[in-house]
Amino acid sequence: MEKISRTKIVDLLKRDDFGAKVNVKGWVRTRRGSKQVNFIALNDGSTINNVQIVVDLASFDEEMLKQITTGACLSVNGEMVESVGSGQKVEVQAREIEILGICDNTYPLQKKGHSMEFLREIAHLRPRTNTFGAVFRIRHHMAIAIHKFFHEKGFYYFHTPIITASDAEGAGQMFQVTTLDMGHLEKTEEGAVKYDDDFFGKQASLTVSGQLEGELAATALGAIYTFGPTFRAENSNTPRHLAEFWMIEPEVAFNDITDNMDLAEEFIKYCVQWALDNCADDVKFLNDMFDKGLVERLQGVLKDDFVRLSYTEGIKILEDAVANGHKFEFPVYWGADLASEHERYLVEVHFKRPVILTDYPREIKAFYMKQNEDGKTVRAMDVLFPKIGEIIGGSEREADYQKLQARIKEMDIPMKDMWWYLDTRKFGTCPHSGFGLGFERLLLFVTGMANIRDVIPFPRTPRNAEF
Ligand code: 4AD
Ligand code: MG
Repeated sequence: MEKISRTKIVDLLKRDDFGAKVNVKGWVRTRRGSKQVNFIALNDGSTINNVQIVVDLASFDEEMLKQITTGACLSVNGEMVESVGSGQKVEVQAREIEILGICDNTYPLQKKGHSMEFLREIAHLRPRTNTFGAVFRIRHHMAIAIHKFFHEKGFYYFHTPIITASDAEGAGQMFQVTTLDMGHLEKTEEGAVKYDDDFFGKQASLTVSGQLEGELAATALGAIYTFGPTFRAENSNTPRHLAEFWMIEPEVAFNDITDNMDLAEEFIKYCVQWALDNCADDVKFLNDMFDKGLVERLQGVLKDDFVRLSYTEGIKILEDAVANGHKFEFPVYWGADLASEHERYLVEVHFKRPVILTDYPREIKAFYMKQNEDGKTVRAMDVLFPKIGEIIGGSEREADYQKLQARIKEMDIPMKDMWWYLDTRKFGTCPHSGFGLGFERLLLFVTGMANIRDVIPFPRTPRNAEF
């Protein structure tokens, strides 16, 4: 076969130098046609769009042609010609075809319209579908948008540890990391595991958040963000929870809660605008395929300012709804943790736009949040989104050494693991704030997918760690 350098399909479809000799490589999506001429839809992952390969059967070897089945991988040399029937302006008239990889007939993606559940069982192949190709291209673009946003604002990307000895959220939902022999655990006289012999000489786990180390960095570099995997051993089998998910956590010295809300709103709007501007084909595909309201919802959040209101006011609205006959599965009262049905009621039914809820009861929030004067609430903020509920959680931080120490004691958090965190409050403490955006929650919003397992390549959930 003549050596012609490969053109990606995304680039080919933009060209109009008809007659040019090109090479394309990709996987067969469909093959159809007559006894004389066949049309192959070829996709190489560079775009949702296929290029049509036109094959005059008489000019090719019959045995080779038999191997062009759905899923097979081809290299095609041919001429770029203007297309009339392919839905694109360009197609390729094949001159030479090489089969790079045959696809045997057990290939599970033969026909269209597989269920999402089935596709999760073949997560090693699902990126080859239109839907998951679109989702994972969008995932890439959103990661780029996030780095671009913070870089342009002068934030530094700071790497916080994945293995840690401290529970940043204090919720006890950590996965342990150990090299001890589980079959022969050595115990102390009191029956406790001897972590002295473990790899780190103490009990270690996968991190639930990079925030605490992020705060160290913010009080040195001024403004930082983390973007990495986080792990939670919470047994929640919901369409919005993963055991392994990615989080973006900006942390900024001198920001108060209002600055923090401004940053969160600007950030998330930037990301949504980026998706509309840079992933138009993929977003439109998902809109047409699954969720006819997607593009409108994305444009919707850009239009208005987010509503900002206190938890206490939010509870009043929910209590009024209950009084007027609205039924929630979980009870509504001051002090209750909000469920996603409550969050979505505020956003979708009551305000019809995103809501930032602030000043939550201290009992339902983490130890590090700044305590308000009232002694009951903390300067927390959750950003609530249509279809998602909580997409961002954050707060102004307790900057006062005494108050923070008292709260840590009160909540029975082992002080010995926290000495380095408390040092920030001893050595030039300052007001500061930050938040965490769940990357997959953002992707749920931007792609319109219904289940968080379908916006990460290989989801980790209770009883599921295949691939
Ligand atoms: O509200 P969370 O627990 O806040 C923190 O971890 C803080 N340390 C963040 C900070 O202030 N720096 O989690 C933040 C966000 C949530 O709003 C949600 O979007 C996402 O992380 N999240 C999850 N996403 C998927 N699966 C889970 N199990 C998640 N738990 C939280
Ligand atoms: Mg939260």
